[in-house]
Amino acid sequence: MKLSVIGCGYLGAVHAVAMASIGHEVVGIDVDERKVQSLSQGIAPFFEPRLQELLTAGLASGLLRFSSDIAEARGSAVHFVCVGTPQQADGDRADLTFVHAAFDALLPYLSSGDVVAGKSTVPVGTASQLAPQVEQAGAVLAWNPEFLREGWAVQDAVDPDRLVVGVPDNAAGMHAAARLRAAYYPSVEKGTPFIVTDYATAELVKVSANAFLATKISFINAMAEIAEVTGADVTTLADAIGHDVRIGRRFLGAGIGFGGGCLPKDIRAFAARAEELGRGESVAFLREVDAINLRRRARAVDLVVDALDGAVLGKRVAVLGAAFKPYSDDVRDSPALEVAVRLKGLGADVVVTDPAAIDNARRMHPQLAYEADRDATLAGADAVVLVTEWDEYRRELDPVHAGTLVSNRKIIDGRNCLDPAVWRSAGWTYRGMGQA
Ligand code: UDX
Repeated sequence: MKLSVIGCGYLGAVHAVAMASIGHEVVGIDVDERKVQSLSQGIAPFFEPRLQELLTAGLASGLLRFSSDIAEARGSAVHFVCVGTPQQADGDRADLTFVHAAFDALLPYLSSGDVVAGKSTVPVGTASQLAPQVEQAGAVLAWNPEFLREGWAVQDAVDPDRLVVGVPDNAAGMHAAARLRAAYYPSVEKGTPFIVTDYATAELVKVSANAFLATKISFINAMAEIAEVTGADVTTLADAIGHDVRIGRRFLGAGIGFGGGCLPKDIRAFAARAEELGRGESVAFLREVDAINLRRRARAVDLVVDALDGAVLGKRVAVLGAAFKPYSDDVRDSPALEVAVRLKGLGADVVVTDPAAIDNARRMHPQLAYEADRDATLAGADAVVLVTEWDEYRRELDPVHAGTLVSNRKIIDGRNCLDPAVWRSAGWTYRGMGQA
């Protein structure tokens, strides 16, 4: 099938590569010439397992190419719109500038029977506003949200756990759903749930899934706050409640909370959209979810300050991690980096290390000092704070060895990923999140 992918950011680049890997002929289109050039040269624009391999293979097979000319979308059976919907600079709502620009640019090149599949995360109601112009061009609009997790994005794109397609309730809608079934044929043949619904439900599936995940994390972090004043241990608590299959242990990892390019902005945009719809009270809890989440970053900073007996100025603090989560080089709204920035703001001599995200972190926060080598980061540290649970720190960092490098054996585990007993027996003062 001939496919176009409009917008080659995180979602689009992965989607284009994934679709080519299952045998479609794909053109990825982006207004950013540099991005198009580097993708065309086979350079993956970010760190994501298997992305480089599939990009190289797609280009070599001739099935995948990139262009900055939207006219190249002409003749594609499905046009996937994958542009970003960032948080507005002056508020919580989603900025739809890129979505509107993509649709405006694409419309002249649509042919009768084409399917436009919106994958961007948009406020509920957007698809029904966009549909008439697509219909005027003789094409049909489907809303087909993505659920990519960074670090698993290629796998999630090639083999998703469900496919959701919002279409109009008419013959054109049936045509769009059938064509998307054909586009996703390996998943369909495998029996992956393929849910055909209306636009509003499809849009809401995406934001409500993210709202649920964010709520689950903030729930356990709220329990962490209670644990901290009662002497309870939040990790044991999470293990215990997680055994209840109705609750489940996943996404009950207490720590410095969620960040990244999706959850924070998506829950804010959802709350803002609900307020516009006169239903603000229905998701008012998301404001609390956000507030709990942001408090955990401050808590980690407080624990470091405590570890330094309140005298932060000029103290060397080793920050292990910059990415918002492991297996990613993404630092957008990274709780890890925010902890580092705040400590620097308090006058600490902060050194940040990360296996993948240093370049991105430096671009965003050039005022921080970065060190690629983990041991060099630890050298002479007055306190260590672990903020991204990379295997390099969680599994591979030996507390006895680390203890020979630092000035003071004080560690704050912002992700509750170390074994406190092991670290304490190696002479460290260990503090986790949600523990006495
Ligand atoms: C998320 C959704 O999971 C995905 O379905 C959606 O398409 C995009 O947003 P992602 O942003 O890649 O994906 O990250 P995710 O794995 O969900 O983690 C988000 C944040 O929550 C990270 O900062 C992570 O460290 C944090 N987290 C996760 C916790 O603090 N505790 C947990 O138990 C799990």
